[in-house]
Amino acid sequence: MLDPAERDRARSFRDRADQQRFLVAHLCLRLILARHLDVRPEAVAFSRDRCPRCGQAHGRPVLAGPGQHVQFSMSHSGDWVLIGTGPWRLGVDIQEVPGLATVRDVLPLLHPGEQAEITARAGSGRARAFARVWARKEAYLKALGVGLAADLAQVYAGADGRAPGPAGWTILDVPVDMAYAAGLAVPGTVRRAELVTCQLPGRGVPALEVTARRRIA
Ligand SMILES: CC(C)(COP(=O)(O)OP(=O)(O)OC[C@H]1O[C@@H](n2cnc3c(N)ncnc32)[C@H](O)[C@@H]1OP(=O)(O)O)[C@@H](O)C(=O)NCCC(=O)NCCS
Repeated sequence: MLDPAERDRARSFRDRADQQRFLVAHLCLRLILARHLDVRPEAVAFSRDRCPRCGQAHGRPVLAGPGQHVQFSMSHSGDWVLIGTGPWRLGVDIQEVPGLATVRDVLPLLHPGEQAEITARAGSGRARAFARVWARKEAYLKALGVGLAADLAQVYAGADGRAPGPAGWTILDVPVDMAYAAGLAVPGTVRRAELVTCQLPGRGVPALEVTARRRIA
């Protein structure tokens, strides 16, 4: 069902868990997009947008040819895959809650307001706040197409939706497994997307589970 580029990438993983997560993510993405386009999953064709930073063709993955009215974004972390689709540009991110050592190391890269929101929490609340900030910020940067090449300290995504985020965008928290945080970025005040989360087999999950298919509204 995968195209040659996806098969090459799948073969390049040394770690079997990484390979499995990649395969599940790309197979799920094809199935979801095939349903939107009313084609067979193997007929879904991908291209890359231009990078808003350098203009090269390594920006957001997009649909090639007919079907460009459907936009999508995908993220995978640990046992989970999160896929968002909609008729407008969007970004999603899922992030496993890291250990406090990672929080301490990465914190200085974030916006000063985010640093303050995170350090105001203690213990595991601090790690969860960090994961929420990261997922919200990365969802927004993936919607733009620039990804983590952006200056992370210049972008304020916040630990929750109470403070205003980037102009022209809404960033929402997506409820997921307690050990993860997930974010969705949508343009303007749209507040809508179709989201699918898949949990990989392992750790008590006997087979691939599509755990939630929902509309955030
Ligand atoms: C792309 C990026 C955000 C992915 O982050 P991550 O936490 O490793 O991975 P996630 O699971 O959340 O997301 C991966 C998915 O994002 C999507 N993606 C890749 N590049 C993207 C981009 N520029 N914009 C939006 N989405 C992108 C793909 O669907 C990818 O899935 P795949 O690797 O299975 O094909 C991150 O690797 C990054 O920013 N890389 C640097 C980009 C860069 O340097 N650009 C050059 C600027 S000149």
